Amino acid sequence: MPTEPHGPLRLLVIGAALRQGSTNIRLASLVARLINDTGATADLAPLHEFDMPLYNGDVEEAHGLPPGAVALRDRLAASDGFVISSPEYNASVPGVLKNAIDWVSRVRPQPFKTKHALLVSASPSMAGGNRGLWVLRVPLEHLGTRVYPDMFSLPKAYEAFAENGDLADPGLQKRLSDTVSGFLSLVEADSRYGCLRRRWYEFLGECTGAPITQRAED
Ligand code: FNR
Repeated sequence: MPTEPHGPLRLLVIGAALRQGSTNIRLASLVARLINDTGATADLAPLHEFDMPLYNGDVEEAHGLPPGAVALRDRLAASDGFVISSPEYNASVPGVLKNAIDWVSRVRPQPFKTKHALLVSASPSMAGGNRGLWVLRVPLEHLGTRVYPDMFSLPKAYEAFAENGDLADPGLQKRLSDTVSGFLSLVEADSRYGCLRRRWYEFLGECTGAPITQRAED
């Protein structure tokens, strides 16, 4: 379960690439270190730890969720929020990441709902994979995730890291660090102080018993 009111914040940091040497796994590792430096706890989760077949409704009906999807759901449920560091494939979300989101979204209660998320990307291109993050917002926001407005995309990623794992460019390093710390402040405010209230709820996959789309007053 998410942390108790006074325990350290716990953030799942998903590195959404399978290959060894992935720049997005490196970026995920750096984000995890920045999170740990603030006193929060990062749970680094490279996607290869969550092996799962392509989604198939017959397989789900016969066997339920594959173990990899259950493990990802468990680690998500244990977090106060999550970060995804994802490559951009053909201006969109890599299939392996979308497939993982699809499997995990089948669980009830639906684990992405009301979680805070920060999206980052790395790419050898000058745009840093930013288009893929805009696409990634769609399924996550559909599922009720509160996707942080700021995102971080690392351009020229093959040359971007210093030997100690930081970004070689101090300006980019500061921007990443500021983005992570702004995100953590929001997660902390929401989970500790209850000063943010859910104002709008719309997820058609889950029936609440009330009108499917409703405003919550508190
Ligand atoms: C890519 N790549 C890529 N890069 C990009 O900036 N925009 C894109 O649309 C694409 N499209 C794309 C499609 C496919 C199928 C592959 C395999 C690659 C390049 C990609 O950014 C590069 O391979 C990164 O190194 C992938 O991230 P990792 O593996 O380093 O984390």
